[in-house]
Amino acid sequence: MEDFILNLPKAELHLHIEGTLEPTLLFEIAKRNGIEIPFKSVEELQAAYSFDCLQDFLDIYYQGANVLLKEQDFYDLTHSYLEKCAAQNVRHTEIMFDPQTHTERGVSFETVITGIAKAQKDAQDKLGVSSLLIMSYLRHLSEASAFETLEQSLPFKELITAVGLDSSEKGNPPSKFQRVFKASVSVGYIPLAHAGEEGDADYIWEALELLNIKRIDHGNNSLQDSKLVAEIIKRDIALTVCPLSNTALKVVDDLRNHPLKTMMNKGLKVTVNSDDPAYFGGQINKNFSAIQKALALTKEDLYELAKNSFQYALLSPDRKTTFLTELEAYYTKNK
Ligand code: ADE
Ligand code: ZN
Repeated sequence: MEDFILNLPKAELHLHIEGTLEPTLLFEIAKRNGIEIPFKSVEELQAAYSFDCLQDFLDIYYQGANVLLKEQDFYDLTHSYLEKCAAQNVRHTEIMFDPQTHTERGVSFETVITGIAKAQKDAQDKLGVSSLLIMSYLRHLSEASAFETLEQSLPFKELITAVGLDSSEKGNPPSKFQRVFKASVSVGYIPLAHAGEEGDADYIWEALELLNIKRIDHGNNSLQDSKLVAEIIKRDIALTVCPLSNTALKVVDDLRNHPLKTMMNKGLKVTVNSDDPAYFGGQINKNFSAIQKALALTKEDLYELAKNSFQYALLSPDRKTTFLTELEAYYTKNK
């Protein structure tokens, strides 16, 4: 099964680039930028990665991102993640980045996106890993700050495919961002959002009805409401589920109680993703194998999950077909 997962062609659809900052790279970048960090060693830093809820994690995640200052830092961060994609047979990835995490500290939008985009191009050319960018608004910040970010993104519009909504969910409902999402769609960005990770089903309803999102990040709490499940299926929208993130943030108490298989059985389109792999104990393939073991998933289940990852990617029909054909050939040979 491990080999089947390792070689399975797949796409990653829920990944925060800032959440791929491994402790060793964090220390290396901090050192070259002359930034003091309140941890003496990689081990001491890793010991701090113990969370009781989303906010616990976000506090340390934003602190980690403070070391990123220069274009080269964003390049190295992204390149390091894309190398891991190549090693795990991730053929395509849709990378979220949080511009406000950096612009709030005085790092320019241009610095962030130029570093990321150069690494994307190199990974496509040298590693054969395809990727696109999702610009995520931080929901704990104001609507005005999101509008400012949208404005800053316009000169780099060609590099951005979609907008997302992340950070502290409770108390920051999708309705707060209805106008900025409308404006984002009008410039050509596809609307996506985190919803129903810690927030209840009504936040998912809002994300669907007010933001008109085309994919739901997490969506665990959709199972609270059978009408909502029916609506998600009717709209043919996928959920980007992150098993190890869910246990790390106590969204799910034990992987054996994870709702992923229940979601699949209800007819929801689910994908497996790593969210913030440097903080949650594993890359995408570790998420696949952990959930496979916990829920006794079959090769057919894993094939369906990988199929969804290409089917619900923000790619042209032609590019989806190319990946799906490769996946089907793999499954036929290895099932
Ligand atoms: N930012 C990075 N990871 C996140 C998550 N799992 N939920 C909300 N915001 C995030
Ligand atoms: Zn996320």
